[in-house]
Amino acid sequence: MEQSIERYIKNLVRDVIGQTLGELQLQSDRQTYVIANWKMNKTLNETAEFFQNISSSQDVSVVICPPAQLLYPAHLFIKQSGKPIGLGGQNVHWTDKGAFTGETSARMLMDVGCEYVIIGHSERRQYSFEDDELVNKKVKQALKSGLTPIICIGETLGQKNAMQTEQVLSKQLFGALTDIDSSQFILAYEPVWAIGTGQSATAELAQETHAYIRSVLKQILGQKAENVSILYGGSANENNAAEYHAMPDIDGVLVGGASLDAKVFDAIINVFAKGEQNS
Ligand code: PGA
Repeated sequence: MEQSIERYIKNLVRDVIGQTLGELQLQSDRQTYVIANWKMNKTLNETAEFFQNISSSQDVSVVICPPAQLLYPAHLFIKQSGKPIGLGGQNVHWTDKGAFTGETSARMLMDVGCEYVIIGHSERRQYSFEDDELVNKKVKQALKSGLTPIICIGETLGQKNAMQTEQVLSKQLFGALTDIDSSQFILAYEPVWAIGTGQSATAELAQETHAYIRSVLKQILGQKAENVSILYGGSANENNAAEYHAMPDIDGVLVGGASLDAKVFDAIINVFAKGEQNS
């Protein structure tokens, strides 16, 4: 409870400061994130081993998003390690509680130590029929509960080839952020064609797209859009991380496959912990 009040006040202050900075035409400092999306991977033992071998950094916010069943043990492992690592869910229901078999509420996530939740991942958009309207409801529920949503957007290969990327992203952004005035969320640009394929977007293409995303965010949120961290996701790994880190509008990465091995994920954290981001 105390934590959520503290979080609420911090968010409020950030929002107000963001607005004031906007009026003064100043750029705000964005937080850098390296976030792991484990998807449907890892057992309890593998989770314990991961947290024994992972490091952390003061310069970058590290967040791990395990499957729901592993959230509480992960929370305990993090506490035991004493490292500043955040915890996030991979999905949240849009209502407080009730007869929704197999679902997880925002309160349950917070109860087991989560501060973040992934919403609108392309796999859920594909397999669980999450559309923009549902994403919007979930984002509102997360914000109301004090969780930071990690909102995923991205175009499919067909949409890319049909030159519809901007149109798709704009629709997803306006949809996800309908009636939302807060900038207390993280965005992840994850081109569907790059997820799990090894075909990562070039840093230049990602930068160009992130700049476009920020321009749409400005239409929605005004100057507060400068506060929003926009992460790249889609076959990000220890070899291409430095190229993304060098880009002014790329504020970190959302990592799937390469987050499962603690050593590999550590290498990615180290890249983003090094040096100043070019923002
Ligand atoms: P990937 O997944 O890094 O395995 O491509 C990223 C994601 O889906 O979040």
